[in-house]
Amino acid sequence: MPETTLQVTQGCFQILRFPSAKNEKLQAWDAADEYLLQDVAEKLDVNDQPSVLILNDSFGALAVALSAYKPSVVSDSFISQAATRKNLALNHIAIDSVSLFDSLVLPQDKFDFILIKAPKTLAFLEDMLIRLQDNLTLNTQVIVAGMVKNLSASVWQMMVRYIGATRPSKAVKKARLIYAQVAKDRIVPVNPYPVCYPLENSRYQICNHANIFSHKSLDIGTRFFLEHLPQDDKYQQVVDLGCGNGVVGLILSEKNPNAQLHFVDESFMAVASAKANFKQAVTTINASFQVGDALTGFDDKSMDLILCNPPFHQQNTIGGHIALRMFEQSQKVLKPDGELWVIGNRHLGYHVSLKKFFSKVEVLVSNAKFVIIKATNL
Ligand SMILES: C[S@@+](CC[C@H](N)C(=O)[O-])C[C@H]1O[C@@H](n2cnc3c(N)ncnc32)[C@H](O)[C@@H]1O
Repeated sequence: MPETTLQVTQGCFQILRFPSAKNEKLQAWDAADEYLLQDVAEKLDVNDQPSVLILNDSFGALAVALSAYKPSVVSDSFISQAATRKNLALNHIAIDSVSLFDSLVLPQDKFDFILIKAPKTLAFLEDMLIRLQDNLTLNTQVIVAGMVKNLSASVWQMMVRYIGATRPSKAVKKARLIYAQVAKDRIVPVNPYPVCYPLENSRYQICNHANIFSHKSLDIGTRFFLEHLPQDDKYQQVVDLGCGNGVVGLILSEKNPNAQLHFVDESFMAVASAKANFKQAVTTINASFQVGDALTGFDDKSMDLILCNPPFHQQNTIGGHIALRMFEQSQKVLKPDGELWVIGNRHLGYHVSLKKFFSKVEVLVSNAKFVIIKATNL
């Protein structure tokens, strides 16, 4: 069983991962969260009422432990926000102690402290550092926390470029903090995000916010999926599950103009990109766009086709557990004759996982790297 009690200078808190899993093996915070909390405990005084912004908290450990300071918390993750709410409630802390912002609309205030948990995607950090410029004063203390392995040279360079001179903490339990001093003369370039590229073999322009999977160009697995998407009038209700920028649903819609598309992703930036890309390309068809956790909220036996290029990470953790949940939920949400189409790297062995939930699992097509699998209950 993982540790669920976070003991830090600010107090003792119960912090769980979300969504809850039966045999959860992973902890909801890491040594970098503990280090950051210990570091700021000496600097934050409630009597001074410091304004605190937290960026990219994983499951709410930072927000819960610092709730006395009424922090603003910015995240691109629906799951992180849901976890933060759950963990506040679990610790009997009023939900409104924390102001949650999604990554698309940032708070307007100036902050005394900006505490950043290093994100997996560098582009997301870059976008945030550019967009947080108006929240800085020359006295703002900007601290990045991360496991040493996640603090690449590019993270340091970005901090220097967009904030100012940096200073490292010593490493503790393989975690480190980066202190950045806000420079008066910093010159911040125009934000390059969203980035756009023409989608090959189509007339579409695809634009991606910074935190999108493969935001610079079409992913090779996605390309293989696009080449083999099905065409049939029987597909009336279709989900693009983990839609990213929505290219999979977009091309499916082109091949099946009578299908009603539902785009879902847990990233606010992904759903915003998918919506903009679809609306710009397809003006005649209605589609739904939902920021959410997999298929939670979808009716049982309601969909004809679910298309999924599953995620293999949650925050900085690698694992197939999200894919498994997506498969399990798909089985419930599909009509009895519905189909789940999955693309994956050969080595991920999705066909084995799919057999836990579906009676028929067939490899439709494969190449040296990828397989496309159809799972049904017929
Ligand atoms: C491998 S990417 C695929 C993106 C896009 N469909 C493509 O093929 O280019 C997986 C996507 O799943 C999303 N995701 C991760 N966890 C999720 C969850 N619990 N619910 C919904 N989407 C999730 C990620 O944000 C990411 O956009």
